[in-house]
Amino acid sequence: MPTPQANETAALSFDPAAVSHLLAPELTTTEQPDWAIRTRGLSKTYAAIGPAPAKQALKGVDIDIPAGSFFGLLGPNGAGKSTFINILAGLVNKTAGEAKIWGWDIDRNPRNARASIGVVPQELNIDAFFTPREAVEFQAGLFGVPRGERLTEAILDAVHLGDKADAYARSLSGGMRRRLLVAKALVHRPPVLVLDEPTAGVDIELRHQLWTTIKALNTAGVTILLTTHYLEEAEELCDRIAVINHGEVAACDTTEALLARLDRKDLTLVVEEDIAEVPAELARWNAQLHPYRRLTLHYPPSQTTIGEVLAAVQAAGLTIHDLTTHESDLEDAFLALVRQDRG
Ligand SMILES: Nc1ncnc2c1ncn2[C@@H]1O[C@H](COP(=O)(O)OP(=O)(O)OP(=O)(O)O)[C@@H](O)[C@H]1O
Ligand SMILES: [Mg+2]
Repeated sequence: MPTPQANETAALSFDPAAVSHLLAPELTTTEQPDWAIRTRGLSKTYAAIGPAPAKQALKGVDIDIPAGSFFGLLGPNGAGKSTFINILAGLVNKTAGEAKIWGWDIDRNPRNARASIGVVPQELNIDAFFTPREAVEFQAGLFGVPRGERLTEAILDAVHLGDKADAYARSLSGGMRRRLLVAKALVHRPPVLVLDEPTAGVDIELRHQLWTTIKALNTAGVTILLTTHYLEEAEELCDRIAVINHGEVAACDTTEALLARLDRKDLTLVVEEDIAEVPAELARWNAQLHPYRRLTLHYPPSQTTIGEVLAAVQAAGLTIHDLTTHESDLEDAFLALVRQDRG
């Protein structure tokens, strides 16, 4: 059943045809491309400034983001996530490579590429003297959306700022400012919405509210590209994930496949016996001894059954008092990939 939020945002009609006047007239199309975003060999080197040397932030990034997907871009600090997003947003000039947004090449059809994307930047850059309503109207003006076609009220409601529409932005909390940035990114009804760390510094409750809003937009047909440090967030929201590290794609797959690739389960046992060290029979599962007779083991479920592991524990003369298993989560997958990459 659709959530009320889904209905609200669906009513906004995120159909690029509705705002096709924003596209260059000779190039308008209502056809949905296969890829919302497609990059080939995307590279960026920031020039040296004073004593700071030149920095190669992106090294030939190929990423395909299917239209309609909810795509996560993960990576440690300085990996190149914001650089990638800012090139798409037209805020940073690439050094080499190609990028298409909604089928429009950012060099050949920059106007259509820009009209196809809404960007929520990582920095909370909000004009403190504008009310949310004014800020959204102003942004719509910048994008050339005629007054009669503006969706200011609906957009503010969709991000749960309807009751703050006329408050001064400086009186908004951090979470509200973040949502105002989302509202501003939606004024031209872009088919692709890009959010750079949208929930950084936002408390858990508001984070979940923001998730609901973004999910509803995705249900309404908007392709979402999100960068995040919260792995829980990526696991919960994203259907595909790319991990970038040092400006290179370390992995790109469905969330499910990324987790499956890890092929690792953790088993924690509480045993009856007081043991001083891990029995040799259990060494192959990387067993570790912890206080209070706890023993942890790690095994690849594709090659070993839990029965084999437990049989070995019993063969080692241990009596199992209690046990829990734990599937590796995205955090483990992510750390493993980043470590592999560091080699
Ligand atoms: N304007 C700039 N001038 C010079 N170097 C820059 C500039 N912007 C970013 N960099 C460098 O490029 C690299 C990638 O930065 P970027 O902001 O894209 O990373 P990020 O993945 O978004 O990191 P974070 O998770 O901290 O936001 C970093 O080494 C950063 O210091
Ligand atoms: Mg960043």
